[in-house]
Amino acid sequence: MAEELARRAVRSSAPRTSRRLEDICAGAQVIVVANREPYAHDRLSNGRIVVTQSSSGVVNAVEPLLRACGGVWVAHGSGTADMDAALERDGLDVPPGEPRYRLRRVWLSQDEQQGYYRGFANEALWPLCHRAHVRPIFRSADFEAYAAVNGRFAEAVCDEASDESPIVLVQDYHFALAPQLIREQLPLSTIVSFWHIPWPEWQTFEICPWRRQILQGLLGSSIIGFQTPGDCRNFLGTVEHAFEAPIDSGGESVSVRGRRVLVRAYPASVAWTRPAQPPAGAAENSDESVRRELGLPDSVRIGVGVDRLDYTKGLEEKFLAIERLLESFPEFLDRFVYIQLAEPSRLGIPAYDALRARVRSTAGRINRRFGHVDYCPIVILEGHHNPEDVCRYLRAADLCCIASLHDGMNLVSKEFVRARTDERGVLILSAFAGAARELTDALIVNPYDADGTAAALAAALTMSDEEQRTRMRRMRHVVARFDAHRWGADMLADAADVRSRRGALVAASDPGAELAAAVS
Ligand code: F6P
Repeated sequence: MAEELARRAVRSSAPRTSRRLEDICAGAQVIVVANREPYAHDRLSNGRIVVTQSSSGVVNAVEPLLRACGGVWVAHGSGTADMDAALERDGLDVPPGEPRYRLRRVWLSQDEQQGYYRGFANEALWPLCHRAHVRPIFRSADFEAYAAVNGRFAEAVCDEASDESPIVLVQDYHFALAPQLIREQLPLSTIVSFWHIPWPEWQTFEICPWRRQILQGLLGSSIIGFQTPGDCRNFLGTVEHAFEAPIDSGGESVSVRGRRVLVRAYPASVAWTRPAQPPAGAAENSDESVRRELGLPDSVRIGVGVDRLDYTKGLEEKFLAIERLLESFPEFLDRFVYIQLAEPSRLGIPAYDALRARVRSTAGRINRRFGHVDYCPIVILEGHHNPEDVCRYLRAADLCCIASLHDGMNLVSKEFVRARTDERGVLILSAFAGAARELTDALIVNPYDADGTAAALAAALTMSDEEQRTRMRRMRHVVARFDAHRWGADMLADAADVRSRRGALVAASDPGAELAAAVS
């Protein structure tokens, strides 16, 4: 009953924001550009085709928006049966069974994927933007492939545009050049670029040999969104330093060659209500099923983490903190198991392959040190886990630990809060994840400080039910209020303002107005 009341109380904001989203979109075609496709078709060895929903952060944040407004999602067609499943003009309507929007697939050759995705996006920009002490690798051939692929996605957007002034939402560091390329072909479009990862200080960014091209590409947008005000400040500082461009006194826009571009923080989030969420009362079932699956007795407390196998996620640091916990608080020996759901990521990139090996060997060493035939303190479940499974593990957890060394937002922390309709469980969250600004009722840790994180683990495992409930209830209000609908609505509302101001100028029928508005 208490659970149902809490559920009702936090449910209230979702429908309002959802309606608002649809209202805002009314009349404008929305086109999303994102590397990862929301649904991939793959062929099994028996010839059957299966559809998998992506669990990527970008997909989790953006999909609710397109479900609400309709439109087109332009993405890399990466599934082995994607071509067979594409019905019309390289695309099809999704979600399967309840179509709400069109998915347009762009096909990339092995060489293009190597240069654009593995190379420039993930060996250059990703380490450049994350403070994780991995050296970026800049290769001219990678940048050329990145530029060419950005051009191909821009072409696909223009091909999908049903009129000359769509709202185009460009997602993430894969497409820094696309906004300017789209603007050249669709000067009346309203382009919002959202950078899901951190933006570094200008002193860090300036080592990129193509820094000016990247900035010019992004500045083709009408609005550039970041996860936190700190990222906005870093970006504005980078532009100011590169072009000596004037920042407005409110620090929310920059003018480059007569064009004014808004720069704002829109903290990304998860959809508050979502089909993957188990029904009320399922918390106990999740706990039972996870214990059964892993053979864990009731006496064992459960910690859970859900991360891609990425060097920014602080997986080794997390395991070292667990080692410190078992050293400093021996009462948790045989009494605490940490389950890491680890999704392999960006395979073939040397820094990722090396990280995967280090993570396994660190866990193996700790398990040999503290484990025995009936006890394994760290369990790594490597592989893709569907949203229902992730939710089940999050609901079974006594604590969820996110130890990112640097993270744009970290939506898993918000997924944990969403999953806990029982208002139990403790979130341990890195101070260096964007989510730490909003989820202040988590136990905030510095992942480099193994002793501090171990102390937070011990505090979580001994926290009273009452304190857990108070903290979780407050976090649930925050995530319910600032969910993915709100994220999309705030961005779209700003886009709609820009669009209508331009419309008014054009309607004033000054012969030069259309051009002036396009660059305003
Ligand atoms: O944070 C950036 C991001 O694009 C996330 O949205 C997502 O979880 C992750 O990186 C996906 O990486 P990839 O598409 O390379 O698997």
